[in-house]
Amino acid sequence: MLGRLNHVAIAVRDIAAASAVYRDTLGAQVSEPQRVPEHGVTVVFVVLPNTKIELLEPLGEGSPIAKFLEKSPDGGMHHVCYEVDDILAARDKLKAGGARVLGDGNPKIGAHGKPVLFLHPKDFCGTLVELEQV
Ligand code: CO
Repeated sequence: MLGRLNHVAIAVRDIAAASAVYRDTLGAQVSEPQRVPEHGVTVVFVVLPNTKIELLEPLGEGSPIAKFLEKSPDGGMHHVCYEVDDILAARDKLKAGGARVLGDGNPKIGAHGKPVLFLHPKDFCGTLVELEQV
């Protein structure tokens, strides 16, 4: 079912400071910040040869990243995103096996303009999992 690792997302308090860490300290290629109000985040893409890192800063009221930072004030890994060929088939197979899909269970368009779903961390080794149809 799973394809490539599309990205690892890291929640941060200060996206400018986090961008500087990746750009200046680690020498990575870092995008300009993009506001994605429908997901409550400002995102910076760090492009690596084999995958991406997404730095996520809370945007607006009720951001899921703000809740995460209340528990982890220094920031930290928020989710991993795996690619799938058919997100509805993947969802149906996982639900049939008892996995919980977050939200209303229907794919939403993610930060990359492609359909995504999130799976409950308790069903996946304590890690929030995003599936993205590519
Ligand atoms: Co993501």
